[in-house]
Amino acid sequence: MAKLTNLETKLGEVIGLAMAAQSATKKVARLAEKEGNDGLAKQLRTMGEEAAEAEERGTELAGSFEGKEKSKKSGILKEARTVKSKAADMMSTYLDKDADALDGFEFLTMAEASEVGHWSVLKKMGEKARHPGVKELVQWQLPIQKRHLREAMAGSITLAAAEDPSEAA
Ligand SMILES: [Fe+2]
Repeated sequence: MAKLTNLETKLGEVIGLAMAAQSATKKVARLAEKEGNDGLAKQLRTMGEEAAEAEERGTELAGSFEGKEKSKKSGILKEARTVKSKAADMMSTYLDKDADALDGFEFLTMAEASEVGHWSVLKKMGEKARHPGVKELVQWQLPIQKRHLREAMAGSITLAAAEDPSEAA
């Protein structure tokens, strides 16, 4: 396996987070549906579709790193799968069987903040490397990830507003 550059590793990380976001949004959408909140569930399905698109376009870009070294793309995707599996572990630790939709949105707030952070790092590295493909991908994804974070936070607040603070948890 070819050794990855920092830029390639960071690309792998955002792809991995996009993979993880698809399972996370699906899981939290189910929790929201269970509580009859179809509006939030629908918003989460859209976020999941956008995550799938991010994975797809990130993977396409990983393919463009091949050139000299055939195994670059597989190295980037291996990094992505490692990140995905770490994120899946975190989700199963945080969202146990007693988790409700509010817990789900709180977890998503962390996950989306992590995506915003990682995409910002990739942006800076892409700028330093003067890599047009990375620049284009980041310009498209970073505003979407910032919106995901706003939506996750807003969803938490909506659910919190509907809870009785003095009721037994
Ligand atoms: Fe996201």
